[in-house]
Amino acid sequence: MPARLFLSSGDLVADRRFDFARDLQLKGDLAAAADLLLQATELAPGFASAWFTLGEIREQLGERDAAIAAFRKAQDADPEDRHGASLHLMLLGAQELSAMPQAYVRALFDQYAPKFETALVDDLGYRGPALLFKAVLAARLAVRKPAFFKRAIDLGCGTGLAATAFAKEVDHFIGIDLSPRMIEQARSTGLYAELEVADMLDGLWCKPDTSANLILAADAMVYLSDLAPLLCEVRRVLVAGGLLAFTAETHGGDGVILGEGLRYAHGASYVRECVRDAGLTLSRCEDLSARNEDNVPVPGLVVVATKS
Ligand SMILES: C[S@@+](CC[C@H](N)C(=O)[O-])C[C@H]1O[C@@H](n2cnc3c(N)ncnc32)[C@H](O)[C@@H]1O
Repeated sequence: MPARLFLSSGDLVADRRFDFARDLQLKGDLAAAADLLLQATELAPGFASAWFTLGEIREQLGERDAAIAAFRKAQDADPEDRHGASLHLMLLGAQELSAMPQAYVRALFDQYAPKFETALVDDLGYRGPALLFKAVLAARLAVRKPAFFKRAIDLGCGTGLAATAFAKEVDHFIGIDLSPRMIEQARSTGLYAELEVADMLDGLWCKPDTSANLILAADAMVYLSDLAPLLCEVRRVLVAGGLLAFTAETHGGDGVILGEGLRYAHGASYVRECVRDAGLTLSRCEDLSARNEDNVPVPGLVVVATKS
């Protein structure tokens, strides 16, 4: 996992109390840690990292209301919400399911970037790009078309694992990602003709109509609660006959939920509906897991949709 985000309070004594509190938290003395964090916030009331950690500890202690109060303070102290306090509020049922804060995603993956591939591929058995590759080949075979794509867009491209999988089948790869550090890693692969630090929906908005033959999103939809606006833009940007291929995490029910791992899971019927409502045709939707958690495959979908 990435290093923990720490935003200094600007007050040396408060920061030191925070460090002691973290030591206590890691040793399991949660009550003493919470006490020290409260002292730190008395010294520095806008200390987002202390409020956020206090929220987590109170969550661990089963003190729901107190946890909610601390996460709200963390949000107030850092309106960009780099710690993702709003996600904890959603999990605690104190906030409606909504979009993931962009600053949280950026901070998470900027910290993750140097060890991302080792952590994901080696530790979690990540196989999203390989699954997408197989699904795209099968979809093209089914309509007797070659699996060669002039222009492809890789949404949430990360370090470039999807471009690596599709390198021989794509002429011109465009990568879009929120995290500048992930984009740096992607650049070093030399596989992308264009790379953009941007939100994937904003990035697509700037693309001309019918300008892409293939759009990929490998393990990126898990950071998007509402797929509908993105799929509408995908339809606009794809050429007729173009493909969208993505992995998603899923759950047994309907609609979208936020999982304990702070990733959204999309119900299969929700995904089918979004694809249909966007005016795309579902070519494949398979129950396949892109990664493990605690050595158990996480329920997932591999989806290929076509613009007719
Ligand atoms: C788990 S990584 C997957 C990276 C890559 N697609 C792969 O298969 O290895 C998710 C990536 O999506 C990016 N991301 C998440 N939400 C995003 C958004 N709204 N717009 C653009 N990129 C996003 C993250 O910064 C991260 O690099």
